[in-house]
Amino acid sequence: MTELPPHDVSDLELATHGRGRVEWASRQMPVLATVRDRFEKEKLFAGVRIGASLHVTAETAVLLGALAAGGAELSVCASNPLSTNDEVAAFLVAEEGVATFARRGEDQASYLGHVDAVLQRRPQFTVDDGCDLVARLHGVWQAQIREVIAGTEDTSTGAVRLRALAAAGGLSYPVLALSSAAIRALADNRLGTGQSTIDGIIRSTNVLLAGATVVVAGYGNCGRGVANRARGLGAIVIVTEVDPLRAFEALTDGFRVMPMSEAASVGEIFVTATGNRDVICREHFEQMRDGAIMANAGQFDVEIDVGALKAASEDRFRRLRPMVEEYLVGSPGRRLLLLAEGRLVNLGAADGHPPQVMDLSFTVQALACEWLITHADSLSPSVHDLPPAIDEEIARLKIAAMGVAIDELTGGQKTYLATWGLGT
Ligand code: ADE
Repeated sequence: MTELPPHDVSDLELATHGRGRVEWASRQMPVLATVRDRFEKEKLFAGVRIGASLHVTAETAVLLGALAAGGAELSVCASNPLSTNDEVAAFLVAEEGVATFARRGEDQASYLGHVDAVLQRRPQFTVDDGCDLVARLHGVWQAQIREVIAGTEDTSTGAVRLRALAAAGGLSYPVLALSSAAIRALADNRLGTGQSTIDGIIRSTNVLLAGATVVVAGYGNCGRGVANRARGLGAIVIVTEVDPLRAFEALTDGFRVMPMSEAASVGEIFVTATGNRDVICREHFEQMRDGAIMANAGQFDVEIDVGALKAASEDRFRRLRPMVEEYLVGSPGRRLLLLAEGRLVNLGAADGHPPQVMDLSFTVQALACEWLITHADSLSPSVHDLPPAIDEEIARLKIAAMGVAIDELTGGQKTYLATWGLGT
């Protein structure tokens, strides 16, 4: 038997189940497959140490497979304590030779220990999802930061943290913010979060959405996706917003818009998708109806104030079903339900974005890593947007993989678009 890479996963015996999951996901990821084939020939990452903090899912295994095919030496930890698929983690270790440090449901100490385990392997490139890896590197692992050439950040929340670090003069190397990619805003946030958030709510509770009043906090791309999918299933959707332009968009898309202080007493299902903290807090728990369900679609577990919920319930809570906790608030006690501990419900209670979506997101990742290998030298240590050409290339590959042809501009049309003199 070949030697296993360093690892800390729940159970290596699960690897065979993981293989099935990864095989199924990879069949839905044709664009990444073409990139993988090219990486395999070109070996651009030969010997390059890449440290990744990602949700350890089947789709992530497909991405890691592409980078490994290009010659990368990989280490991966989870980017959320609840999002690891233990079967996939076992598969990565036992069959792909990837140093993997992730266990589903790990506590904070184990989670950080696993981030450290990746950093201990001295990555030259960081692939982050939420900025925990980069934050830890800039805090505890300063001494080896000069070895890092560049990095990528998957999420908009992570990009906000990175920009704050850069503004404070603390970011030590260039990072590409992949959430700036147009293809991501559409695929990952709208389609992916939209479907998988609803999937998490349904899998954990099995509630009927038709006729239910769903309150969606935040009308960015994620909130918009959730609101539209909930409406598609027959829910009555209310949107809450702080941004007047987005509120206007929600209204003109046909949703009711009101402050959370009003929505709290009418909603039956609440979904937070703002990227900010304290969106649903004590004053709202006090108004909510008996049986109200709360779920978070944002990156971190700060949107629903879980501490305040525990305090308001005076610790009267129990686990009702997997990923469903019921808190008793007030006297005689209204039952308020919290899904996936207030963490990302789509990964805590379901499988995350579908592979067809991750095909795009992770092709962005793969091509961004490739671009950094050849361009990092010329970049300042700050947060950079993905070059638009990569976006366009991925959309072109995806359309082709779907067997769809599109029109091309004619010579006359190109000239027309480049001419200012022609009008009425
Ligand atoms: N983020 C959201 N969904 C995901 C998935 N399926 N795999 C990895 N990261 C994700």
